[in-house]
Amino acid sequence: QMSQKMLEERVAEVKEKLGKRLYIPGHHYQKDEVIQFADATGDSLKLAQLSAENKDAEFIVFCGVHFMAETADILTSQNQKVFLPDMRAGCSMADMADIQQTERAWEKLQEIYGETILPLTYVNSTASIKAFVGSHGGATVTSSNAEKMVTWAFEQKERILFLPDQHLGRNTAFNLGVGLEEMAIWNPIEDKLEYEGDISRVKVILWKGHCSVHENFTFQNVYDTRRKYPEMKIIVHPECRREVVELADLSGSTSYIINAIEKAESGSSWAIGTEMNLVNRLIKNHPDKHIISLNPHMCPCLTMNRIDLPHLVWCLDSIEEGNEHNRIQVSQDIACDAKLALDRMLQIS
Ligand code: 13P
Ligand code: SF4
Repeated sequence: QMSQKMLEERVAEVKEKLGKRLYIPGHHYQKDEVIQFADATGDSLKLAQLSAENKDAEFIVFCGVHFMAETADILTSQNQKVFLPDMRAGCSMADMADIQQTERAWEKLQEIYGETILPLTYVNSTASIKAFVGSHGGATVTSSNAEKMVTWAFEQKERILFLPDQHLGRNTAFNLGVGLEEMAIWNPIEDKLEYEGDISRVKVILWKGHCSVHENFTFQNVYDTRRKYPEMKIIVHPECRREVVELADLSGSTSYIINAIEKAESGSSWAIGTEMNLVNRLIKNHPDKHIISLNPHMCPCLTMNRIDLPHLVWCLDSIEEGNEHNRIQVSQDIACDAKLALDRMLQIS
């Protein structure tokens, strides 16, 4: 059993030894014990951009979740190897859409809407779904470019299918002027379109998926916060439900939230609706501001939290010993089509 200090020394030692051959990107939701060793931190878009740009690193140890490591593998070259320190670090939202369900949905939607529909997928999805979207002319989306990407999609086709986060899809389309009555839900469990009325009016088909962390921020949380702290500004991630985003003062990606807090006046007060590690880090880094979680019971992402110091050390040890455990390798054919979807996004954003 190694102490925290020994684990930290071990990470520092491997980093020193491998130098530029090793690159550790870390998502903003990662634990402090891990993020302290990240060579770069970012939201999903920035981490994807950095992966596409990095030509030096031989070993990329991705501190984030599975779909992010897959994206890094797709965007880096053949001789670069991507690792995920714990294979159980998945994403419950990405798990809500599989490729078979997507193919069945597409077939039915083609019967209803013919060629008038374009698929878009949030990057929080499997490489197979990105490949499906890429090979059907569509693109990936992140929370920081969703409006741009949905606008682009509507320049291509009359309708879009948005996978797998109904909330990001709904919030984005709504901000672009699509009415709630023009949005339908695709239910992948029952293989059916949920919509009451004339289906020809539908412009956006939202996959029935959600983030189990951000669904914990509720109307009641907003109501209680407004009553208790009338001066407080509320800022949330667009993976939150429509009513929460609607009633908040601001919404945006993790980087957007960080920027807003950094720019905020000293003495200002903020309730934040996003993952716990990021909220706690903002509280710690801004002692001059009053910051709380919008949901008083802090909301952790259990899968993000699976990446911890012991797993990071174990992964680095295996790289150093040449065993290369936990490598993330997307098969060539899937990677090729998925890259089409990612490249369309990277070009536009
Ligand atoms: P962003 O960092 O792109 O806002 O993504 C949030 C998230 O939930 C990642 O899983
Ligand atoms: Fe997935 Fe939500 Fe965790 Fe992000 S916060 S990795 S969307 S479960």
